[in-house]
Amino acid sequence: MNTNKPKKITRKKSSSESGLIRLNKFIADAGYCSRRKADELISSGVVKVNGAVVSELGAKVHPSDLVTIKGDPVSIKEHNIYIVLNKPKDVITTTSDEKSRKTVLDIVRKQTRIFPVGRLDRNTTGVLLLTNDGELAHRLTHPSYEIQREYAVKLDKALKPADAQKIADGLEIDGEKMAPCSIIISQQDKTKVFVTLTEGKNHEVKRIFEFIGYEVKQLDRKSYAGITYKGLEKGRYRHLTRKEVLYLKKLVGII
Ligand code: URA
Repeated sequence: MNTNKPKKITRKKSSSESGLIRLNKFIADAGYCSRRKADELISSGVVKVNGAVVSELGAKVHPSDLVTIKGDPVSIKEHNIYIVLNKPKDVITTTSDEKSRKTVLDIVRKQTRIFPVGRLDRNTTGVLLLTNDGELAHRLTHPSYEIQREYAVKLDKALKPADAQKIADGLEIDGEKMAPCSIIISQQDKTKVFVTLTEGKNHEVKRIFEFIGYEVKQLDRKSYAGITYKGLEKGRYRHLTRKEVLYLKKLVGII
């Protein structure tokens, strides 16, 4: 055996080149919790990689490894997307339209199939969330979670305080009870009101106002579950930050 054979020395691969990532990042990227919380879970011995407990901070894993926390699999193989769009007018919220009208998915084009969280009418503008995370979307739209939707409404005439009170108390429309809500009338212009609803029924704002004799001239959703379109012009969108996604998941009890 020739022991003098020169040893081939190659550049050491960085962890990103070898495809390995830190375990705490894997857990955070899966949307399970923050990296700091992941470190706590790792140290406490509840995290397993391919069936073996890994409690060493700084441990690295491959994205295809099977990671479990307290027995539940955690996966980043399916990349989740979370978007907030400032919806413009004349765009519909369905994913496809047989009349070839413009849909929100014509604005937010993604490789992965995503869908809108709830609906906005064609001429309603403002905050629309889109995602491929079915569980989060389901919980954000389910009435039992009482997610707040804040609307700025422009009416055809000034809203009377007595009518505002009726809306706030929760009207009964065609035998259907609307949930109580909060309502503010702008002092500068009493045709402008801000309503915060927690149910998400179809056309609910228009139905409420039409029922008591007002016409909704303009409707803009200012926020959904606390996410606003601040900094986005109509027709523009952005990805939610990791902090916002964690906040939404906590809000509906996913984490
Ligand atoms: N209520 C409505 O009437 N329309 C919307 O688009 C959203 C809420």
